[in-house]
Amino acid sequence: MKLAVPKETRPGERRVAITPDVVGLLKRAGLDVVVEYSAGRAAHFTDAEYQQAGAELAADVWREADVLVKVQPPSAEEVMRLRAGAVLVSLLQPAANAERIAELAHRQVTALALELLPRISRAQKMDVLTSQATVAGYLAALMAAQRLSKFFPMLMTAAGTIPPAKVLVLGAGVAGLQAIATARRLGALVWGYDVRPVVKEQVESLGAKFLQFELATKETQDAGGYARELSAEDKARQQAWLAEKTREFDVVISTALIPGKPAPRLITRATVEAMRPGSVIVDLAAEAGGNCEVTRPGEDVEHHGVWVLGPINVPSQMPTHASQMFARNVTELVRLLVKDGKLASDFNDEIIKAMCVTHEGKVMRT
Ligand code: NAI
Repeated sequence: MKLAVPKETRPGERRVAITPDVVGLLKRAGLDVVVEYSAGRAAHFTDAEYQQAGAELAADVWREADVLVKVQPPSAEEVMRLRAGAVLVSLLQPAANAERIAELAHRQVTALALELLPRISRAQKMDVLTSQATVAGYLAALMAAQRLSKFFPMLMTAAGTIPPAKVLVLGAGVAGLQAIATARRLGALVWGYDVRPVVKEQVESLGAKFLQFELATKETQDAGGYARELSAEDKARQQAWLAEKTREFDVVISTALIPGKPAPRLITRATVEAMRPGSVIVDLAAEAGGNCEVTRPGEDVEHHGVWVLGPINVPSQMPTHASQMFARNVTELVRLLVKDGKLASDFNDEIIKAMCVTHEGKVMRT
């Protein structure tokens, strides 16, 4: 059984789905690993490293693949290169890619969408959303530190004492907690805020302070542990509160998301205009529409002297470790899927069932 690893083709994508260090694990599961020439180059993994690890190299890995793993959803042209009966494991953004999903079903491809992995303990080691959010949170803190025209740490020098920067992180999920930890390591004073009060302890365990804000909505978290959308009244109150609060900070890193919804709007244009010139906002929710009204996805905007950074595909900016973590997650999933070189056909397994978007010619979910 062949597991194929193509070179990513989406502009700006530097990650690769499988790194040389997991090739041995995949081979032990009974798979032959075939990697497209230079697939790992942008992430600094050489063809020779894949070969040494026991992978084969090929110019076209699509047509022969029994299992094909990749990072970004395949293009329309790539979908046409998969053979009937192949299994595709990738981020697929099924809600935004209905046509492509229908084509995968039509071509008898079994497709597993990595973003639909259920967030249960057993699946933690397979969770690319978590590993990639860890990278994004870390980089968001570094971007902020680099753009700020001040030091992050307190410095006591012959040229005087420099107070530490004050950083506010909005949304304390995986990315937010990593941004908090990284800003703390750089020496800033850090505050965290989230609508889910359960994260208070996690924020404090990282040496940051938790900001409290009373909402009328009491059920702010669903059964899966995700935030719920706030009522219109609470949204307005939260915006008004943040308009006052953000003025106290040099940096705001926003990471607030609600699955399947546009990113909640936390920072209005007027809030940005009221911040001190030189302040920095890093909006990690840019791709989902932005937590800040001024954000332009993929751009850095200077608005009334405040930098508003809207980076997209952030994990791809640190492709070596992002790929390595992605590869370990995917390998764990493949080991659930393939036993002794054969496709384990238990499509009723809770994890596989939740992720499976096409199977036996049918669209299972969008
Ligand atoms: P996410 O990326 O969906 O959202 C980021 C954060 O934004 C969340 O903490 C959310 O509460 C917050 N948020 C949403 N609306 C907000 C608003 N209006 N104001 C302020 N904050 C707002 O979240 P992520 O990082 O995916 O984590 C969500 C949950 O999933 C957490 O409970 C996490 O512990 C859990 N999780 C469980 C895993 C597992 O068991 N396998 C793996 C990873 C996460």
